[in-house]
Amino acid sequence: MSIALIDLHPATTDLKRVVQEGLQRQPRQLPAWLLYDAAGSQLFAAICDQPEYGLTRTEITLLESHAADIANAVGSGVVVEFGIGNAKKVDPLLRALRPKTFVALDISRSALEDSLTGLASQHPAIQMLGICCDHSQLEGLPTHPWLIGERLIGFFPGSSLGNFTPKDAVLLLKRFRHLLAGGPLLLGLDQPRDPALLEAAYDDAAGVSRAFAFNLLKRLNRDLQGNAEPQNFRYEACWQADQQRIEMALVSRCSQTIQLAESAWSFEPNERWVTEHSVKYTPDAAAIMAAQAGWQIQQRWHDDQDQISLHLLVPSN
Ligand code: AVJ
Repeated sequence: MSIALIDLHPATTDLKRVVQEGLQRQPRQLPAWLLYDAAGSQLFAAICDQPEYGLTRTEITLLESHAADIANAVGSGVVVEFGIGNAKKVDPLLRALRPKTFVALDISRSALEDSLTGLASQHPAIQMLGICCDHSQLEGLPTHPWLIGERLIGFFPGSSLGNFTPKDAVLLLKRFRHLLAGGPLLLGLDQPRDPALLEAAYDDAAGVSRAFAFNLLKRLNRDLQGNAEPQNFRYEACWQADQQRIEMALVSRCSQTIQLAESAWSFEPNERWVTEHSVKYTPDAAAIMAAQAGWQIQQRWHDDQDQISLHLLVPSN
């Protein structure tokens, strides 16, 4: 069992500045990664277990049921996952591809260490390399003996791209193309479907999605000496057809002013504080986005109901 870690010491973000910038926007919106403090990460894992939120289960089943076909189409090489997440999805991929080396990039060193230790015990034959970095600041993968002369295979599952604006999604896909240096990318995306089903997936009956959004207030109150009162907001998840996305927001119940990050922020009644967007891509929309980033879709696998797709992207010419 071998694990190595390269720490590129990603710059720590200035939380106060990020929050001030986001709250000055119209509508107010903070970057989605702020949702994932320790409690938020646990709540997200709980969302994945809700009956209304099928994304994670469906994607894992998809990977498992087409494993041999995917392995065949992807070919051999080093698997590179952008963001380690909870490592649940790469497991079936590693079983299918049996690469010599698995590389995970993540901004959190502790998340990398925990996930790679867990994966290494399940896949003792695979060399596990963690790279602690901000991949948006990375020009290329660092040199390491396990990577010399190897073909790279990117993996970005879970519809993570959905949290980005379509413009930023294109920039990210360009960056991945650069980092993978000619290698393919396996990209998991969630598709548009019945709005009622989508809205339920982001506002489950057990209230876990709601708790996930409200945890942002808790987190900011704690980390930036805020006094936001959760009872003065309600949670909404709505499908916005023109943008093909779910918007999740805390909506102000009244006229109020909160103190946060050394400033005062006033909210009108019904003013929205957007916590995140989740953009859904039809296969056609995915192909257009891929083309804008210099990729083409070579193959697509989807579930029985055609709600989730795993795309195999290869650089266009
Ligand atoms: C982690 C961005 C894929 O958009 O489905 C789920 C985040 N937020 N429920 C998604 C999320 C609330 C999730 N992604």
